Amino acid sequence: MKVAVIGTGNMGAGFARLLSEAKHEVAIGARDPGKAAVLAADIGSSVEGGGVAAAVKLADIVILALPFGAAGEAITAAGDLSGKIVVDISNPITPDFKGLAIGHTTSAAEEVQKLAPGAIVVKAFNTIFAQLLAREARKAQTLQVFVAADDAGAKAKVSDLATSIGFEAVDAGPLSNARFLEPIGEMNIHFGYFLGRGPTTAPAWVRV
Ligand SMILES: NC(=O)c1ccc[n+]([C@@H]2O[C@H](COP(=O)([O-])OP(=O)(O)OC[C@H]3O[C@@H](n4cnc5c(N)ncnc54)[C@H](OP(=O)(O)O)[C@@H]3O)[C@@H](O)[C@H]2O)c1
Repeated sequence: MKVAVIGTGNMGAGFARLLSEAKHEVAIGARDPGKAAVLAADIGSSVEGGGVAAAVKLADIVILALPFGAAGEAITAAGDLSGKIVVDISNPITPDFKGLAIGHTTSAAEEVQKLAPGAIVVKAFNTIFAQLLAREARKAQTLQVFVAADDAGAKAKVSDLATSIGFEAVDAGPLSNARFLEPIGEMNIHFGYFLGRGPTTAPAWVRV
């Protein structure tokens, strides 16, 4: 698949590397195109790096690897997103990481959909720590990625993408279920950083 990764931080770099290893076509976009170019060069010659609009232009799937508060700026910089799948991986956390800034009646994913009405927004990966993106970090475990979206085709494509990089995709229902997934992401932050488990923990939905 042709994937644009917007952001060069912990998640952006992790996704770009992992997707490239899985032979996807990857373009990295950043507000500082130089940072994206350096990361792309570090990963390998098949990965492109530059501005946000350039990365988005040829991609079918756009992963926003940015703080929730930066989504509006990145979407404006992206240009035409109509018909593209936009993956929101964010947890809209408060500055101390201990709570969610929005929730109950909306979610980061739904707010991203409002910011990019022509795009098809999919919620996924918000419960996977950056430290667990690299395959070797996951050891022999197959971690679950909860995928919420209103569009069945987009959900299937993002689920396939998750599977291609070694995760088990779990259908989490409509995009509005991001209202429930984001608190799970926040609970994972508490387990990882405030309750002593470390950032190699991830939630799983178990069926008995
Ligand atoms: N880290 C995790 O374990 C984890 C797990 C699950 C979900 N998430 C979610 O993933 C997202 C990214 O997290 P992260 O840990 O990768 O963050 P990060 O390491 O701090 O990286 C953030 C990236 O966003 C860019 N950025 C910040 N403000 C921007 C703006 N206004 N316009 C354009 N780009 C901007 C930064 O660019 P500059 O370098 O130019 O500042 C940087 O590339 C967040 O929404 C987070 O909730 C993170």
